Order: sequence, then C-alpha cells, then structure tokens
Amino acid sequence: MSEEQIKSLENQFEARIARDEKIEPKDWMPEKYRQTHIRQMSQHAHSEIIGMLPEGNWITRAPSLRRKVALLAKVQDEGGHGLYLYSAAETLGISRDEMFEQLHTGKAKYSSIFNYPALTWADMGAIGWLVDGAAIINQVALCGTSYGPYARAMVRICKEESFHQRQGYEIMLKLSQGTQEQRDMAQDALNRFWWPALMMFGPKDEDSPHTAQSMKWKLKRKTNDDLRQQFIDQTVPQAELIGLTVPDPDLKWNEERQSYDFGEIDWDEFWQVVKGHGPCNKERMAARVNAWEGGAWVRDAAMAYAEKQQERKTKQVS
Ligand code: 3HC
Repeated sequence: MSEEQIKSLENQFEARIARDEKIEPKDWMPEKYRQTHIRQMSQHAHSEIIGMLPEGNWITRAPSLRRKVALLAKVQDEGGHGLYLYSAAETLGISRDEMFEQLHTGKAKYSSIFNYPALTWADMGAIGWLVDGAAIINQVALCGTSYGPYARAMVRICKEESFHQRQGYEIMLKLSQGTQEQRDMAQDALNRFWWPALMMFGPKDEDSPHTAQSMKWKLKRKTNDDLRQQFIDQTVPQAELIGLTVPDPDLKWNEERQSYDFGEIDWDEFWQVVKGHGPCNKERMAARVNAWEGGAWVRDAAMAYAEKQQERKTKQVS
C-alpha cells in the first residue's frame, strides 16, 4: 500500500474517531491503535482473573451463609468479566494462549492492587468498596471507549460491578456498627487499602506514557488523574458516613475546586509493585500458573470432545 493510501486511511480513521463512531474488529485501524488495545484489554482481563485470588481465599471463611453467597457470586462474576475481556481482546488478533503466555511470563501486567494481601474479613469489605468502587469509576468511563467490543463488554461489567461495590460497602457498614474490635478491623482494612486503591488509576498524567495518545483515540475518555480525583471525591464522604477515617493527613476539602486536596502517593511503592516486588506478586503468579497447568486436562478434554462432535457432524452431512 502506498504512503498516500495509508495517509488517507489514517485521515478517515481520525475522522471516524472525531465523529465518536465505534471502531469494529473488521474496520481498518492504525497498528498502534490495535496494539494499544491488545495491551490494555488483555491486562484488564488479567486483572479480573487475578483479582479472584485474594477474595477466593475468603469464601470458605465468610462469617455467614449470606456473606458467603454474596462473595461467591462476586468472585464468579470476576471470572466472567475476564472472559468478556479476553474474548473482546481476541477480536484484535491475539489468541487466548498468547495472552496467558504473556501473563505467566511476566510480559503482561495486571492491576497492582491485587498484589496486596487480604488479611481479615474486613478486607473483603474494603476490596468490594474501594477496589470495585475504583474499577467502576474507571470502567464507566470506558463504556464510551472508541473500540466497539471493549465498550460493549464494559456495559455488562459495570452493571455487575455496582453489586460488588455495594456488598463491600455493606460489610464495612456492618463492621463499623459492631464491637470496637470490628470497628478497628474495618479501619485497619481502610488504612491498608486506601493508597493502593488510588494507585489503581495509574501514574500521574504527566508520568503516563500512554494517556495522551489514548485520549486522542478516545480509548480513554478521562485521564488517570481525573478518574482518581472523582474516586476520592465520591469515597471520602462514604468513609465519613460509617465513622471511618481516610488515612491521609493532607486530605482537605477545597471549596474553590469543589474537590478534595490529598496527600502525595508513594510512587516508589507503586512502581515496585508494578515491577513485581509487591507483597503478593510471586504468590499470585504461582497460583495462576498452577491453575493453568492443573487445568490443562480440562482444556484438552473439551477440545477432544469438540473435535469428536465436529467429526460426527461432518459424517452426518456426508
Ligand atoms: N497496576 C499495574 N500496572 C499499571 C497500573 C496499575 N494500577 N497503572 C498503570 N500501569 C502500567 C500500565 O499498564 C503501563 O505499563 P505498560 O505500558 O507495560 O502496559 C504503565 O504502567 C504506564 O501507565 P499508563 O497510565 O500510561 O498506562 P495506561 O494508559 O494503560 O493506563 C490504566 C493504566 C488506567 C490501568 C489503564 O490501563 C486502564 O484503564 N485499564 C483498564 C482498567 C483496568 O485494567 N483496571 C484494573 C482493575 S480491574 C478490576 O479492578 C476488576 C474489578 O472487578 C475488581
């Protein structure tokens, strides 16, 4: 294809983005647009399934049948979110196996938040309330993303995410109305998960290598900092409502900005965790690789059954 033809295709693509048209799998798109989506969507999917690990550990230790059922449903949802996102990423020409190989070899990332341990039952509340709360803010914005399959996956995921956030906040509410020990447990969970939840939105915009271009392509509809600020402004009143204190001495309502000013995030910690040196990175990856290897027989059996079925169908037709 000549330079001129490529230039014309790029101009048509930019014009479609400008008109807020959805780009579909069979449409022409710049290779960098494709690669950026494969990167972000596959990492999003990895985050969903790795996110099942900390909560999965607490299903058998839930304090009541009601809590167990809610947590079970949530963890199961996360698996489904991973499925939607892997399927959406596959429309861009990457295989499921390639994505898992990238995850298992550390080439692909997943959200830093899941490299922190879930130490008490209150952590189930903090994760639902804060982690899913942050994910909703990020994912509601992604409902308007320019790549069709990604935007449509987000609509379904956001509906389920709201239940995740609500069940988490209800756990924190119950604990905050309980004994002093339970109130302390809820506060401790907030202390440990507040800052890692802010890190979920990624580095500051000025330090983000992808945000500017992702905003141009309308992959991102809001920047990392805007989404982070939205999360803080929404969540601080929720903490105050249940008598918990956000662990940030610099947090202060700014009347002029109509937003909270907040303290400096520990970006050294963030990059350490992203680079694989967080409290649970090794444990999470070992669990993932064991599940993948341990489940190989299920995949083989399913493929063998599908091939048999196909053979029978072909025989019937001939
Ligand atoms: N954890 C791990 N890596 C992170 C990160 C985080 N919290 N934030 C940023 N990074 C990585 C980026 O992946 C990128 O590295 P790469 O080039 O190797 O991929 C680098 O740090 C620079 O960051 P940027 O902000 O420039 O990168 P992005 O433009 O990709 O923005 C993002 C990062 C905001 C996380 C964006 O990728 C995004 O919105 N992803 C989709 C949402 C998502 O993945 N959420 C994760 C949580 S899902 C979840 O919580 C499930 C819920 O059900 C519990």
